[in-house]
Amino acid sequence: MENFEQLCQKRRSIRKYKSTPVEQEKIEYMLRCALMSPSAKRTCPWEFIVTRDEAKVRALQACKTYGSQMFDTATAAIIIALDPTLCHNTWMADGAIAAEHILLAAAEQGVGACWCHIHERGIETDGAEDREGAARFVRELFGIPEGYEVLCAIALGYPDEERKDYDPAKLKYEKIHNEKW
Ligand SMILES: Cc1cc2nc3c(=O)[nH]c(=O)nc-3n(C[C@H](O)[C@H](O)[C@H](O)COP(=O)(O)O)c2cc1C
Repeated sequence: MENFEQLCQKRRSIRKYKSTPVEQEKIEYMLRCALMSPSAKRTCPWEFIVTRDEAKVRALQACKTYGSQMFDTATAAIIIALDPTLCHNTWMADGAIAAEHILLAAAEQGVGACWCHIHERGIETDGAEDREGAARFVRELFGIPEGYEVLCAIALGYPDEERKDYDPAKLKYEKIHNEKW
């Protein structure tokens, strides 16, 4: 990989992982990258909870009805929680940027990763979703204090599936508007 565009091409969501654990140094590299992410007024509202404990990683599968199956094989996870009192209307943006730094740092190191959304997600029963459920589940599992918003849990592991790189020739260039919509 030679430049940032090639890293963006290569970063894909990976949801199936080999059992080989992700090295602690690689996770620390991702976390340093996350700690360098921009945040509104540099409030740094994020907290990163790291787990390499198999039981906890597997438990995350049950946090919501859809889209958490990657924790079936993930070997680690990083949960991003935020203090909304530091930045009431930007916490989600601040958390998302930190998450993207982690996803890109993982891809750069050959580690597969996938964002599992937690905020306002939960268990669906008879078509109704308990929209506080996933956050409550994750808060209890990791002892996250009340008042913190739980944005997402990033699954990590060495890829056990092939995803195609993005092809610059096939991007949605129609989304770009020059000077005027
Ligand atoms: C805000 C956000 C929430 C997401 N939530 C989930 C999720 O809960 N479960 C999941 O499997 N993937 C989730 N994803 C991953 C997307 O499905 C994925 O990024 C998208 O399909 C594009 O594929 P790519 O990441 O391979 O480019 C999420 C991504 C974002 C940015």
